[in-house]
Amino acid sequence: MAPPLTALLLPALAALLPVPAAARAPPRSIAVVGAGLGGSSVAYFLQQHFGPQVQLDVYEQGGVGGRLATVTVNKQQYESRAASIHALSLHMQDFVKTLGLRQRREVPGKSAVFSGEHFVLEETDWYLLNLFRLWWHYGISFLRLQMWVEEVMEKFMRIYKYQAHGYAFSSLEELLRSLGAVLRSSYGQSVLVPAFAGAMSLAGAQGSTWAVEGGNKLVCSGLLKLTKANVIHGRVTGVSLHSSEGRALYQVHYTSSEGQGSAFYDMVVVSTALHPSRSNFSFQNFEPPIDNFPGTFQPSVTSVVHGYLNSSYFGFPDPKLFPFASILTTDTPALFFNAMDNICPVNISAGFRRKQPQEAAVWRVLSQQPLDKQQLKTLFKSYYSVQVTEWPSHPRYDSTKSLPPIVLHENLFYLSGVEWVASSMEMIAVAAKNVALLAYNRWYQDLEKIDQKDLMHKVKTEL
Ligand SMILES: Cc1cc2nc3c(=O)[nH]c(=O)nc-3n(C[C@H](O)[C@H](O)[C@H](O)COP(=O)(O)OP(=O)(O)OC[C@H]3O[C@@H](n4cnc5c(N)ncnc54)[C@H](O)[C@@H]3O)c2cc1C
Ligand SMILES: *[C@@H]1O[C@H](CO)[C@@H](O)[C@H](O)[C@H]1NC(C)=O
Ligand SMILES: *[C@@H]1O[C@H](CO)[C@@H](O)[C@H](O)[C@H]1NC(C)=O
Ligand SMILES: *[C@@H]1O[C@H](CO)[C@@H](O)[C@H](O)[C@H]1NC(C)=O
Repeated sequence: MAPPLTALLLPALAALLPVPAAARAPPRSIAVVGAGLGGSSVAYFLQQHFGPQVQLDVYEQGGVGGRLATVTVNKQQYESRAASIHALSLHMQDFVKTLGLRQRREVPGKSAVFSGEHFVLEETDWYLLNLFRLWWHYGISFLRLQMWVEEVMEKFMRIYKYQAHGYAFSSLEELLRSLGAVLRSSYGQSVLVPAFAGAMSLAGAQGSTWAVEGGNKLVCSGLLKLTKANVIHGRVTGVSLHSSEGRALYQVHYTSSEGQGSAFYDMVVVSTALHPSRSNFSFQNFEPPIDNFPGTFQPSVTSVVHGYLNSSYFGFPDPKLFPFASILTTDTPALFFNAMDNICPVNISAGFRRKQPQEAAVWRVLSQQPLDKQQLKTLFKSYYSVQVTEWPSHPRYDSTKSLPPIVLHENLFYLSGVEWVASSMEMIAVAAKNVALLAYNRWYQDLEKIDQKDLMHKVKTEL
């Protein structure tokens, strides 16, 4: 009898990988570049899979947490960037539970959409507001959109099942395909990825949202502490390829306050955007060469302002009558800001209430350019302080180019490309789990756990 096709194919595929599976010890050392949520969670997942004996070095040029960060106003801390987490974010929920942290409830508040002249939509329900935004952008009917978002969300939840069974995807396209986010001809390819991202943001607004008590960044520092990862404060300048006993060995080069340094690793995960504007990162000795991945980063400026809202600007001469805690805007070119929220501290007590618009409150204003004095004077009657952070928030998807790869080389992985598809904490955590599983399955050549088709059926019949 002829051997099954897989028996013929597997050794052939395995020959492309360096060492026979059975003889393989776990990697001795792994480097992670970036200690944002992506880097911290991938370090945690890698250790879960490979075991505690693997040495984990995490390089960070700034503060642990990356885009999860707080600013202090009046002795209280506030989220300055990524603030809210959707109720169905299962990895984030797990992290919080594992680390003994707590969820902080969202303080209710009304929202509205401002056109630059008046409010075009006033709602208490974020979900409708976000539907409105998508409709505004893509002209898809409300009802169809709502059904579609539910469908996308339901399919998205499958990823947790696949991951629990150890399945990984070697590209973003494969991952999206497994979630049923295939190109839908009715929307056309150019809309698909931004629309998927839109659906994810909508889904985020549909249920209740939450944040981490004490600050979302506590998840990052907590995961790194839990894994006993060695955090190296320095800027990675590049990775060069070497080989030892027929295996790939990666040299990570960095600069720190002590000068330049480098170290060798069996595996490397890059968890920061490889983009020329972000860092000078070079890959040496790789064939074919590895480049940065172009893509336009949307500039994003956050101004945390402690002051009195100029409610007149929004058509409410009496601030006491101003009913909104968050203001979205339509894409009016003349408008100089995208959104603003009356924000609450990262720690709130049971009796906490949001500051009223006639009181001095802490507002977070999102804009594409830094606000000038005149613009601040338009939004605020007066203010005590302004703290500005600039961040190229996330890449703009370009439908004419393919998505960035996850596998850059045998044991060299790129985590941040997922932001080309959707930029959220949970999405990064899902991608981190995928990279850890992929790294593990590749290391032990468990090819049946990579890019499998018909997974829905497989996980139903597996226990
Ligand atoms: C204004 C704003 C609001 C947002 N709101 C939300 C929200 O409400 N909900 C939500 O879910 N998501 C939100 N997001 C998205 C969320 O912040 C990101 O998806 C997530 O934080 C990305 O994590 P990361 O680890 O991939 O990237 P980052 O947090 O950017 O981490 C990358 C890290 O790598 C470090 N680094 C970079 N280059 C090097 C180098 N060469 N050497 C060493 N270290 C390096 C950086 O200093 C950084 O710490 C928001 C983002 C922004 C900007
Ligand atoms: C805020 O919450 C964190 C996490 O629960 C806690 O460790 C910290 O002590 C709290 N801080 C204040 C000022 O209550
Ligand atoms: C990258 O290097 C160039 C030239 O060496 C320098 O001008 C630029 O500021 C660097 N960019 C970053 C983000 O470090
Ligand atoms: C407040 O808004 C009104 C109306 O747009 C404007 O005339 C005024 O200059 C703004 N600033 C202050 C400080 O009142």
